[in-house]
Amino acid sequence: MTDEQNFSRKKYRASARAHANVAAAKYWGKRNDSLNLPIFDSIAFNIDALSTETTATWTDDERDALIINDWHVPPQSMTRISRLLDKIREMKGWKKHCTLVSRNNFPLSTGLASSASGGAAATMAAVHAAQLDLPQSQISALARLCSGSAARSIPQGWTRWRAGSAEDGSDSFAVSIAPPNHWNLQLFVIQVSDAPKNISSTEGMKRSESSPFWNAYIAEAARAADVIQNAILQKDFRAFSEAVMQNTMMMHAVALTAKPPVCYFAPKTIEILQKIMRICRAMPVCCTIDAGANVVVITDNIAAPFVKNDIIAMGLTYIQSCVGGGTELITA
Ligand code: DP6
Repeated sequence: MTDEQNFSRKKYRASARAHANVAAAKYWGKRNDSLNLPIFDSIAFNIDALSTETTATWTDDERDALIINDWHVPPQSMTRISRLLDKIREMKGWKKHCTLVSRNNFPLSTGLASSASGGAAATMAAVHAAQLDLPQSQISALARLCSGSAARSIPQGWTRWRAGSAEDGSDSFAVSIAPPNHWNLQLFVIQVSDAPKNISSTEGMKRSESSPFWNAYIAEAARAADVIQNAILQKDFRAFSEAVMQNTMMMHAVALTAKPPVCYFAPKTIEILQKIMRICRAMPVCCTIDAGANVVVITDNIAAPFVKNDIIAMGLTYIQSCVGGGTELITA
């Protein structure tokens, strides 16, 4: 490589770290499939302990490349990342290609939202490597093209993804509703399985539309973001817990009653769910399950040691965390 090529590579390179997020009020249903535009607002929190680091380099190479944990992603699986990179190319008015090298500190496709942290880190890195100076809202809207939930990993702490109404998705991005230290809750990410889920969220959402309960679900779930946001802002654990658990059950209810049905639960998922449903009457604890078998248990600082003992007694593997920050640039 000549000095000039080397200089050009460094000039158009940036690295970012993003955290996975878990939904308290779920995004489950799209009004536009290719732009990942949701039907209603959702609420999430970033998980400090689960992160992805990505380095983006714009070069004069002939094609884009994506390498995740040393795995070269085949071109046919790069549709979503291409959407993001095409958009950046359009904004820059250039024909350069981007190489993205990404590393997660947790398993992929197991319901631990690697697509969220991956999409957010890739977007932040690619935007900065292209030397674009964009507001956070626009970076969040770009991250949405990779995976809807990635929009929520851009802002810090507790986030709300506004569904928006514009056809081009320009008003569909996430904002922070509270910083990570707003409410000192403890999160236990229980790894029920490290096998990839067999039905993607995209497919699960699509199929759920065939549930006879779909219309009732949309009407009810559309109200969840306001209820859960209020509970978070007021630090009202009882209201939070009730709404979060119900929202999880509603999402899985439409998935389970789809044609053909979608079941993300493993036997251990049910075991944990039943345990939490029992103990949540006596202490501040609740749980949520995204599109996978893993369970995220949420509790306050006082109840955390008791909950942890229960999790250990059940022989489960877990990662303990607090609520995390937003996507940040790092030096690789
Ligand atoms: C159950 O963001 O993975 O985790 O936009 O199709 O990539 P796509 O879906 P994705 O869906 C996440 C679904 C969920 C709920 C949530 O995170 O809100």
